[in-house]
Amino acid sequence: MNSDKPDASLLPKHVAVIMDGNNRWAKRQQLSGAEGHKAGVTALRELVRYCSEFDAINVLTAFAFSSENWQRSDEEVNAIMGLMLQALVNELPELNENSVRMHIVGDRSRLSESLIQRIENAESATQQNDGMHLVIAINYGGRWDIVNAAKRLLEEAQAGGLDSADITEDQLATQLSLSEFPDPDLLIRTGGEHRISNFLLWQAAYSELYFSDTLWPDYDRAEFDRALESYSSRQRRFGGRVE
Ligand code: FPP
Repeated sequence: MNSDKPDASLLPKHVAVIMDGNNRWAKRQQLSGAEGHKAGVTALRELVRYCSEFDAINVLTAFAFSSENWQRSDEEVNAIMGLMLQALVNELPELNENSVRMHIVGDRSRLSESLIQRIENAESATQQNDGMHLVIAINYGGRWDIVNAAKRLLEEAQAGGLDSADITEDQLATQLSLSEFPDPDLLIRTGGEHRISNFLLWQAAYSELYFSDTLWPDYDRAEFDRALESYSSRQRRFGGRVE
């Protein structure tokens, strides 16, 4: 980052990113959609490297595959799944070198046995690291996450461990994905669309939103610096008042 980087206290501890624009980028380059997603993996690798250089940034969460992405063609779904299978093996040496801990969130019930195995392997191979947490959301949807938390609370209630008066925001939040991390401070979406697309619906309630027109494969350090600059200049009130 450039010399006038914001003070650490003004930096987000948890950054979440919706990586949008791979297909448009590919079309512009007259490449296949698969090539666009491949370039997307490269951009994500670069962002992980950069974020792990900031002591202040402790969690980076990236939306790799949404619950709705199954509606894309078989060819595209297979291409993304193939990239994830590869990345979960190929990226491990560098993640370990940078002390990054990897976590995968989302509904695993529809993932292939081989992908689940690689996810479990990547998580256990990096869990001893003590640097930044990298969370990849695969077959994730914010609504799924909340419904899943409700189901878990119901199971607890049926087992006699809970009654309705115990169900508070804090209690429900313990059952959500990412419950071990603070909520994202900054949520970035690339690719020019201004929406959350069923990403961290609960967890992003008070996140600062930053939208970039850059297509994800072109996202670079200078773009991320701009998001940090914007974040550091904002006053967060969490619904309260700052005099
Ligand atoms: C959005 O671009 C991107 C995705 C749906 C997939 C993102 C996936 C990756 C970057 C690869 C993930 C792999 C790993 C290892 C984490 P889009 O296809 O919606 O682009 P468009 O808006 O131009 O159509």
